Amino acid sequence: MNTEFTVIDPNEIDADIILRAGDIIKDGGLVAFPTETVYGLGGDALQAESSKKIYAAKGRPSDNPLIVHIADMEHLPHICREVPETMKVLAENFWPGPLTMIVEKSDAVPYETTGGLDTVAIRMPDHAVALEFIKASGGYIAAPSANASGRPSPTLASHVREDLDGRIEMILDGGEVGIGVESTIVDLTVDPPMILRPGYITREMLERVLGQVDADTTMMSGTDKKAPKAPGMKYRHYAPHGEMTIVEGAAEDVIKTINEEVSKAVSEGHRTGVLCTDETVAMIRADVVKNAGSRADEHEIARNIYRILREFDDEGVDVIFSESFSADGFGQAVMNRLLKAAGYKVKKI
Ligand code: TXA
Ligand code: MG
Repeated sequence: MNTEFTVIDPNEIDADIILRAGDIIKDGGLVAFPTETVYGLGGDALQAESSKKIYAAKGRPSDNPLIVHIADMEHLPHICREVPETMKVLAENFWPGPLTMIVEKSDAVPYETTGGLDTVAIRMPDHAVALEFIKASGGYIAAPSANASGRPSPTLASHVREDLDGRIEMILDGGEVGIGVESTIVDLTVDPPMILRPGYITREMLERVLGQVDADTTMMSGTDKKAPKAPGMKYRHYAPHGEMTIVEGAAEDVIKTINEEVSKAVSEGHRTGVLCTDETVAMIRADVVKNAGSRADEHEIARNIYRILREFDDEGVDVIFSESFSADGFGQAVMNRLLKAAGYKVKKI
């Protein structure tokens, strides 16, 4: 299949391109598109065959449900068995935005989209291209992150091309995403609501409008025996090819330990990579040193981590060390993704 790669300016959206993308979806095809979190791989959420194609294109296990993206609140009742009060409150506060809500599905949503579950994950993204594209497609876009299964999520259209060229009909290149990690997922079928995946919308932000909100205890732990409640969270996601270790401790100790570990790995014949920050970059020695930004700006770090993990792959790095970050607030989402990339391998010093 020939994949059409098209640049689209979010500030001046070309209506013809959007129309073409929408037609591809209505015909059962797949289009990758930018959102404010990461690029998504879109298909018609209400066509079982489209969802099957999404799984095939990504090489993703089909028990891992997809998120349905909408652009209009009026479309909610068609895909939900009922629209809970909590959903209305959260939508009012956080949509469009990086929040996915899980509710009971209606019969209109095929089990192929929900991985066999009776619940459906829904979000309204905060990105002009995504919203126009969803509207032109009939209103319901099933979209996982547009990476090949197991690879870091795409924050640039070129990442999507690396993974999916020749496997989908079209890639809409709307530039670099704003946030860089996937949406927060909150399950509204339980009381109190429960966060299944941390993201930009933090527990504190949800609690301010909902009262008590719980968090899935498996989120930040590689040893919890329970299965995570979001099926996708059990996979070793977000992973670079290299073996990654997070080094945690006081700043000077972390720098010293990373440099020692790098020397050891180099002497064993490995090609090494380090994910560090503005504050440490001048003191780190490794084959490939990547600066994720200032420790004081977790938004900058979030925007850069997936790109850096991919660059380690591009540069043939097989041993990776990363600094650790605070897991407070939005930092929890950043650490959750890094922990997964490292297969929960942490060296505490
Ligand atoms: O920011 C995002 O959410 C991006 C952009 C493209 O919108 N999408 C995304 O989709 O991250 P994906 O497929 O990579 O991750 C969806 C996660 C998976 O962990 C999946 O298991 C979980 O959502 N999920 C979806 N439906 C669910 C359901 N009904 N119950 C529990 N977990 C669900
Ligand atoms: Mg994903």
